[in-house]
Amino acid sequence: MLKKGSIAIDGPSASGKSSLARALAHALQWVHADTGALYRAVALSLTKADLAEAPENTICQHLKDRTISYSIRDNSTRVLLNGEDITDFLRSEEIGRTASRISQIPCVRKYLFQIQRNLGEKGGVVMDGRDIGSVILPDASLKIFLLADVRTRALRRLSELEQQGIPANLDIIQKDLEERDKRDRTRSLAPLIQAPDALLLDNSHMTIEDSVKWILQKLPN
Ligand code: DC
Repeated sequence: MLKKGSIAIDGPSASGKSSLARALAHALQWVHADTGALYRAVALSLTKADLAEAPENTICQHLKDRTISYSIRDNSTRVLLNGEDITDFLRSEEIGRTASRISQIPCVRKYLFQIQRNLGEKGGVVMDGRDIGSVILPDASLKIFLLADVRTRALRRLSELEQQGIPANLDIIQKDLEERDKRDRTRSLAPLIQAPDALLLDNSHMTIEDSVKWILQKLPN
């Protein structure tokens, strides 16, 4: 029986982290924790309050009056904002863009750090994000840095949006992904980087099942 450790999956937007982490958690009967959803929850809260473009100190003040937390349903995290489950309202491109921007603010990262660490420390978690292997769970049992070429990622995002009935343009999505990658990789606080002990997995030409198998073979007993 495999000891319940934690797996960190980091990588750029639309690299397939969440789908892979979900499938892996399912195979192991662990919990899938989507950390991007926490940043998106902050973005949604700010957008609702018309504060998405507000100065940093206003954003920090806004967060003090809000409670963001995880709850677990069917082995996946749900995100609660002041006790209300908002998980189904976080996937739009606008919220993603705002999340990328506000994720550079120190009080936002500090606020969300403990939520992620608390869940990760319980074990039996596959957590995906940008800084999981480098900052949130530096002692994870296994760290994966997931890559896919930008066109493949844009096509995946397009099909995700189309499935939700949201009209989108491939070239605009690709440009947006490139901008977001640049911001996530170059920000001074907890940038998107491959932790030195993370394994690189380029899944551009792999199915989710292939990736799950590849990772399970690397998992220490
Ligand atoms: O994975 P995602 O697209 O849902 O994440 C939205 C934004 O949140 C992403 O552009 C950067 C930020 N993020 C982060 O800074 N650290 C994480 N661990 C997860 C997401």
